[in-house]
Amino acid sequence: MKLKDKVAIITGGAGGIGSETARLFGKEGAKVAIADFSEDEGEKTAAELRESGIDCIFVKVNVADPHSAEQMAEQVTDQFGKIDILINNAGITRDAMLKKLSKEQWQQVIDVNLSGVFHCTQAVLPYMTALGSGSIINTSSVVGVHGNVGQTNYAATKAGVIGMTKTWAKELGPKGIRVNAVAPGFVDTAMVASVPEKIMETLIEKVPLKKLGRPEDIANAYLFLSSEEAAYVNGTVLEVTGGLVI
Ligand code: CAA
Ligand code: NAI
Repeated sequence: MKLKDKVAIITGGAGGIGSETARLFGKEGAKVAIADFSEDEGEKTAAELRESGIDCIFVKVNVADPHSAEQMAEQVTDQFGKIDILINNAGITRDAMLKKLSKEQWQQVIDVNLSGVFHCTQAVLPYMTALGSGSIINTSSVVGVHGNVGQTNYAATKAGVIGMTKTWAKELGPKGIRVNAVAPGFVDTAMVASVPEKIMETLIEKVPLKKLGRPEDIANAYLFLSSEEAAYVNGTVLEVTGGLVI
């Protein structure tokens, strides 16, 4: 088991990539906190994982709210005694062409995808520092590296996440905390369901593997970066895109 007795918080863990990650981390021996805004989905996923023998709790959090992120870290520590791994996976899209993008759409995405990563990382930091070790993984996107039509707000956040990852890798490395990012390509979850079919077909055509990624493909990347196998990997951005941009 690659994560035996580790405690992992997975934000956005109720569904999509996050719930696959919770399942995989649980199978690898981790105690898992599914931290999500969606209470119904989160409780349901946590109950399913517990039925399969995984030590798992649901924690309600709005990552956009710093106080809520602090409560999340406290609750997980009260329950499991420590925090070894934080997967900053919660994210949203509010797509629009630049000329139509509203201030609300801009701010909502900034609050969750960028400020949310800052809030959750700041909230777990005292616990990881006390432990003298930790692994933080931030979820970027191929869109943060290469841009995408209709995603000004989202691209800004996913590029920002890379900047924070590299900064924290330098700042927290001396404290024994590794910080890395994963930049997925297009993955088959609710998030891509909103993309018009014609655009989706064009996007898949551009992928050399000619298919969408599966949530498991990203969960496996999170697992590698969280595990001892990545003990000397720090400040990297792992692209998992099927070769979409090469
Ligand atoms: N790639 C290439 N061209 C695109 C495009 C894309 N991703 N998105 C839009 N376009 C093109 C359209 O084909 C259209 O071209 P024509 O004028 O030649 O027909 C033009 O841009 C304008 O598009 P719409 O007519 O659809 O404009 P709209 O105002 O009605 O809608 C939109 C704009 C909401 C951005 C809509 O086009 C859309 O949803 N596009 C998809 C955006 C996208 O790719 N989102 C990814 C979501 S998944 C995700 O974000 C996960 C991740 O990290 C990868
Ligand atoms: P999803 O939409 O299936 O799941 C996102 C989860 O985040 C949901 O459970 C939602 O309730 C939760 N969430 C949203 N706002 C929240 C908030 N304020 N506080 C707490 N939780 C909140 O999305 P998916 O596809 O699983 O995406 C996961 C991550 O991967 C996101 O950061 C996304 O940007 C990123 N990503 C996804 C890609 C894709 O193609 N699906 C590609 C590249 C990156």
